[in-house]
Amino acid sequence: MKLPSLLLSIIPLSLAQTPPSPGLSYIGRTHISLGTPFPVGPGPFGNRSILPITGGNFTGPIFNATVRAFGGDWALGDPAQGNLYLDARHQLLTEDGADIFVEANGPQQADGVIHCRVRWEAGTDKGYAWLNGVVGVGILTPRFEEGGDGVEGIVVELWGLVTPGEKGLREHWG
Ligand SMILES: *[C@@H]1O[C@H](CO)[C@@H](O)[C@H](O)[C@H]1NC(C)=O
Ligand SMILES: *[C@@H]1O[C@H](CO)[C@@H](O)[C@H](O)[C@H]1NC(C)=O
Ligand SMILES: *[C@@H]1O[C@H](CO)[C@@H](O)[C@H](O)[C@H]1NC(C)=O
Repeated sequence: MKLPSLLLSIIPLSLAQTPPSPGLSYIGRTHISLGTPFPVGPGPFGNRSILPITGGNFTGPIFNATVRAFGGDWALGDPAQGNLYLDARHQLLTEDGADIFVEANGPQQADGVIHCRVRWEAGTDKGYAWLNGVVGVGILTPRFEEGGDGVEGIVVELWGLVTPGEKGLREHWG
């Protein structure tokens, strides 16, 4: 079988019985403000509710940004399992003017937090193309109103996967 030459350029991990675990490099924290949710109702994939994303901010060791008032979480409630499935999209605007598209989805865990897979899409002309190569994960928790118990927004902590033995994302990409 002839392998594509691109595949041959992949460096194999050692085939030790238990492979070393990959690392996670911290990318930052997103505060997201939510508008009034509206239900779509039960459908073919579960109970769909839409939570508008109305703004927020992102702070991290590599860059900072604001969350544009444009995006949402097309959340699915799974009545059988009693949990939520996040399906969100939003836009970051970095301090130096780059627009970055962020897509995240994933299931709520038994402890209540949501684990999500994250993908970034940045233009290749403003210094953020490295984000296109990051395989991200996030942990999402609600942020409660001060002095109240209503949910005011959400906080997402974000990491990128790092090959075992490799340096962190900052050294690798920054
Ligand atoms: C669907 O979601 C809405 C909004 O969260 C909720 O009020 C409703 O009870 C849910 N319906 C079912 C069948 O789970
Ligand atoms: C980000 O948003 C949160 C929630 O609104 C706020 O508490 C925090 O001060 C903001 N951070 C920055 C750097 O603007
Ligand atoms: C991002 O903002 C935080 C809080 O304002 C600041 O401490 C940090 O240095 C900033 N990071 C970058 C990369 O500019």
